[in-house]
Parts: sequence; structure tokens; C-alpha cells
Amino acid sequence: MKNTLKKKKYYLAILCVVLVASLPAYGAMTKKSKTKSIEQRVDSVLRLMTLEEKIGQMTQLSNPNIPTGPTYISVEKASNVALIREGKLGSILNITGADLTRRMQEVAVNESRIKIPLLFGFDVIHGFKTVFPIPLASACSWDMAAIASAERVAALESSAAGLHWTFAPMVDIARDPRWGRIAEGAGEDPFLGSAIAKARVQGFQGKNLRDDASILACVKHFAAYGNAEAGRDYNTTDMSERLLREIYLPPYKAAIDAGVATVMSSFNEFNGTPASGSKFLLTDILRNEYGFKGFVVSDWNSISEIITHGAAKDKNEATIFAMNANIDMDMQNNCYPKKLKQLVEEGKVTVEQVNKAVRRILRAKFELGLFDNPYKYCDSKKEKSVLLNKENLAKALDVAKRSIVLLKNDNLLPLSKTAKVAIIGPLADAPKEMNGCWAWYGEQSPVTFLSGVRNKIGSSHLIYAKGCNINDATTDSIAYAVSVAKDADVVVLCVGESGDMSGESNSRTSLDLPGVQSLLVKEILKTGKPVVLVMTNGRPITLGSLNDSVPAILETWQLGTRAGDALAEVLFGDYNPSGKLTTTFPITIGQVPIYYNHKNTGRPNIDGKRQGYNSRYIDCGNFPQYPFGFGLSYTKFEYSDFKIDKSSMAKTDKATVSVVVKNTGSYDGEEIVQLYIRDLVAYGVSRPVKELKGFDKITLTKGEQKTVRFQITPEMLAYYDLNLKKIVEPGDFSIMVGCSSADKDLLKLNLTVIE
Ligand code: BGC
Repeated sequence: MKNTLKKKKYYLAILCVVLVASLPAYGAMTKKSKTKSIEQRVDSVLRLMTLEEKIGQMTQLSNPNIPTGPTYISVEKASNVALIREGKLGSILNITGADLTRRMQEVAVNESRIKIPLLFGFDVIHGFKTVFPIPLASACSWDMAAIASAERVAALESSAAGLHWTFAPMVDIARDPRWGRIAEGAGEDPFLGSAIAKARVQGFQGKNLRDDASILACVKHFAAYGNAEAGRDYNTTDMSERLLREIYLPPYKAAIDAGVATVMSSFNEFNGTPASGSKFLLTDILRNEYGFKGFVVSDWNSISEIITHGAAKDKNEATIFAMNANIDMDMQNNCYPKKLKQLVEEGKVTVEQVNKAVRRILRAKFELGLFDNPYKYCDSKKEKSVLLNKENLAKALDVAKRSIVLLKNDNLLPLSKTAKVAIIGPLADAPKEMNGCWAWYGEQSPVTFLSGVRNKIGSSHLIYAKGCNINDATTDSIAYAVSVAKDADVVVLCVGESGDMSGESNSRTSLDLPGVQSLLVKEILKTGKPVVLVMTNGRPITLGSLNDSVPAILETWQLGTRAGDALAEVLFGDYNPSGKLTTTFPITIGQVPIYYNHKNTGRPNIDGKRQGYNSRYIDCGNFPQYPFGFGLSYTKFEYSDFKIDKSSMAKTDKATVSVVVKNTGSYDGEEIVQLYIRDLVAYGVSRPVKELKGFDKITLTKGEQKTVRFQITPEMLAYYDLNLKKIVEPGDFSIMVGCSSADKDLLKLNLTVIE
């Protein structure tokens, strides 16, 4: 009798386990549960989960075949599948394809006890299959609609290939072009960087995460990663809280205000504490001050690296730091999966901390609609029809031509389509180099400059020579290139960096053209033929005396799939270049860091001359080669009639400035009108000589003029006072409008702010 009762109890217990196990966590699929709020659904799933399963949701591993960082974890090819089955993995990065992601998702949803759908993440940094210009390039368009449209295409394509989540946008402000990751951001300015951060988030996430083709964006790397000492990647960052708040934080904040779903922590230490264990950055600022509600993922191995920084003795300590800082998901550290359970059992991390993290992750999965349809993005037919389709390629061309910056033009451009053109240089026909960093899944045969020009003018009057390789010492092919140049009316000389000279861990100590490329340019110039220098690079380059000797320079960065077509449109005048630099080009690397929104110092060097005891070098002035905001057009724009509607305003009021911009040249064109403000005196605090506070990209046909207006709001005049409180203070402000950040390009007037 006793035995039968025992048996009965045993079978009852088994039945319960089976019943609970077969309760799909996304059993939130029943009609009734669909009407529940996301919070209720998250709670109902959380209640079903074991501690191990919760830690599983907090774990992300890479597809072991495609690592995007050093691999310390030996994961067998198939072991991700075993982990998914056991409920020990909530997210995978570096996996793509509608079929492959479906198969993995099937394991999670059909074979794991808890049945929570996986989240697939990938670095969709500047396009997926259709490659768009690198972020530093598209930033030069100052065109928020174009930038958002690039990310929309990236979301369309990557979601069609099974992905739910991109590790973008990278919004790290960079003032040091030695740092290779300058290529991944928007440049040096917090105001422009904020506008671009918002546009990118909106492009990726669409109107609603549940919509078809919306993907989670991830703003990174929190925080101040772009200030790596000496421009060496992963290096120490040490700065005042003032600098952090004034310059480095605004773009992350803008992304958060735009509703970014996730944040990635950074590799660097920040003021002595590794950022991935920094409660100050990730909790005090991100959660408490900014109110960020989404989830935070570590960077690749960045929790483990707290140990290498020397700030934790082992993975246990590193895990505690990361958990106390509020990092919710462990990317490829093997800290949470290996250490968290024991730490909870020992009471060193609380279950409530774990629950909080899991809640945030589950919320994102619900918001994407994965519990209702885990195969939302697993349609291989759609994948085929979306990747590289006509519309996406057309968008890529549009954004590429808008990203090109005309740096110099002594009446040479645009070229005649009937001229005999020699296209020369190591970047002229270099498909591999057109995409730049983070595009290894992208289309690998982009249109090269040679083929773009050929598509435009045909091959009968087009000749080509490579001249030299990008980065070697051999000069053997230069003589042939010179002979080709002699045979042409005009030379298009394509020089620059290879794609792998910028991006992660690709810092340089020189900004010069690599290898013997400068020599190639000099030899070609000796022929006396007019030369258009076409630059391909992921950071500002120093050209030295070549800036003066070549008559025309086009900065094309790395333009992606339609690179050659975009260049051809600009070269032959089918598109009038409109891009403006978002990062300062120094004269020499010795001036770095150099940026437009610098402080005045107590001994400013005003006229550029070397005299007295003032702040300059004995061998170089303080002016850059090309300033922030600079870029030419084939037409001319004249600025006049700069006015303000009141010369003094109350500090809670608003004022309006207006300026007339006229196209006085002989082409239709677009102009980026820029507004800068200087707070002339702040109580006890020095303010930058100017700060960008507004811009407007306008189109003007030949002879047309427009009045451009900017509203001056209290927010534009505010600054962090001595106590780091943001205030607006009565006093005088200089308001400047013009075509670049250089003083000579700006019209100025005064605004007095009163109580
Ligand atoms: C980079 C991140 C990237 C991650 C995943 C890291 O090495 O710093 O920006 O998102 O790898 O690929």
C-alpha cells in the first residue's frame, strides 16, 4: 500500500515536471496571455525558470567559426547546440542566414525545457550584404534622412538573414585619428554625433520593434572608449567628469532618448576602473541618471579583462563587479555561465540581481515579438529577395555620393566625359579595400573606381596603371604608371589605406600615405598632367606638401558596394559634392589631438605667427589642414544678411537668427549651413572657442537664395557650472553662422542673455 502510494506520488511528480516542462515559456502564445502586458508575460516566464536557465539567458556566445575577438573559450562546433538544448544559452553572435538561425531557434523552442527563443546578434556596422560607406563617411553627409535610410536597409537585409540585433551604432567621440576605430563613429563633435546617433537608432529599430524588419540597436561602447590614450586601441582613458559630460556622453544619451534597446559596455578603463565593472558609468549614469530601461551586454570578453586590467583577482571577482555594475548579458567571457550560480548560492550576488537582468533581456525578446513568432526572421525566400536588391543598391549609391568631401578644386573638377582619363594608383581597382572595416559579410565585389569610371564614360578613352601596392617599398611599377599618365588628358590618382588599416585594433602611429604612395603622386605630378587625388581611408590622412601641389582632392573614405559609381557621379559632375568633414584633418600628426571645439587657453595664439610666449609649436601653427565642417562644392555659396530678432533675451526665452545663403556659382548644389555658439564668459569655468549647435542642409539651384533660420534655445546656451550642474547664465554669447568651423568662414553677432 505504502509502496503504491509512493509510486503514485512519484508518477504525479513526474507528470508535474513534464507538464511544467512542456509549458512553453512563450506559452504567452495563448490568446489570454497575449492580452497581458509585457511585464506580466515576463514575470510569468521568469517564474518558470531555474537559476541555471536564468543564467543561460544572460549568456551570449559567438558562432565559434566566426570569432570577432580573441577566442579563449574552446567551444566545439556543435556545443552551442548542446547548450541551447540545456537552456544554457540565450543569445548567439556572429551567426547569419534564415535557414541556420531557424535550425538553432528550433532547438531552443522545441528541445529546451524552457523554450525561450534565442536572440541572434551581429555587427551590422555599415550595411549587411549591401555595404554602405563607413560610419565616419556617411556622417560627412550631415544628412539625417540618408543616414537613417542606410540603417533601414541594413535592418531590412540583416533581419531577412535571421538577425534580431545589431551591435551599432558606435557613437564614441574620437579626437585622435591614430585610433583605428575613428572609422566606426561620427567624428569629433557631440552635437552632430548626437543627431547621427538618433538617426541610426531610428533607422535600425524602425517605429516599433514588433514591426517586420525592426532590429534591436546597441549603442556602444559605454563609455569614453574613443579617448584611448595615444590613439592606441583598448588603451586607458582618464579624463575629468566635465570632459566626459561635455564631450563624450551626449551621443550615448541621444541614443538612449531615441529609445535604443541595448547598450554595450566598453573595454577601456575609465579613471582607474575598468568600464565593464564601473558602477559609476553603468548604474549611476546610465540607469539612474539617464533612466535606461533596456539591457546591457558586455563587450567581447570585457568582463574577464577586468582581471587583466588588474582590478579583479579572478572570474568570481570580475563577475561580481560586472553584476554590481548592472551588466545583464555576458558576451563571450564565460564568467556568468561558469561563476554566477555559485556566487548566488554563496550570497555574493543576489537572486534579485539575476532576476533584474533576466527581466530586461526577456523584455527585449517580447518587444521584438519573438515569443509570439520565434521564426519571425527565418524566411529564406525573403532573404533571397531582399539581400542586394535593386532598391538597396540604389540607396547605397545615394548615401555613398553624399559622403564624398571635396577638399580642394583649382578649377579642375568636374571632368569632361570626353577627356582621356588615366586612372592610376593602388586603390583604383581594389575591390577588397572599398568596404573598409566590419564588412566581412558584405558583398565582396564592390564597384571599384576603375569600373565605376568605365561604366560612366566607356573604356575607349580610359587607361589604367596600378603604380604601386598600398603598403610596400617597391617602386618598380611607378615608371609604367608615369608613362600611362603622360598619355592622358587628366589623371585620377587613387591613393590611401587598405580596409584593414582602420577599425578595431588597427591604430597607426603615422597618418601619412602608407608605402611609396607619396612618391607615386610626386612622380605623376612631374608629368605636368592635371591630377585629381582620390583618397580612400578610414581616418584623416596627412598629405604634407601634396596638399599644395595637387589641383583637386576628393575624400571618398570607404564607400562600400557602389564606391566606383559614386565617385564617377562626382568626378563627371552628375552629382555636385556636398559632404563636409566631421573630423579635423591635421597638418601633421604632431598636432594630434586637434579639434575645432578647443579651449582658448590663457595665452592663445591668435594670428598664427610665432612670437612671444603663447600657445603654439615652434615648428607648426595651430591651424589644421582642413577644419571640422569643411567641404567644397562645384558651385559657390554666399552668406549675407546675418540677423538676430533680439540683441538680448531672458535666459528662459528664445531668439531667432537668420542668414541669407545664395548660390552664386554655375551649378545646382547643396550646402550645409552651420551654427556655432561661444559662451564668452562663464563663471569660473572656461568654455570652448565655439560649439556646433545647429545645422541645416539646403538645396539651391543656380542663382537661387534662401533664408535659413535657427532658433537659439536656452538648452543651446547651457553649460555645466562649477558643480557640474547644467545652467544657463546671463552674459554675452557669440553666435556664428557659416560654411565651416574656421573663423574666416563665419559671420558673427552678439547675443546678451539676461536673468
Ligand atoms: C568589439 C565590439 C563588437 C564585438 C562583437 C568587440 O571586439 O569591440 O564593437 O560589437 O566585438 O563582435
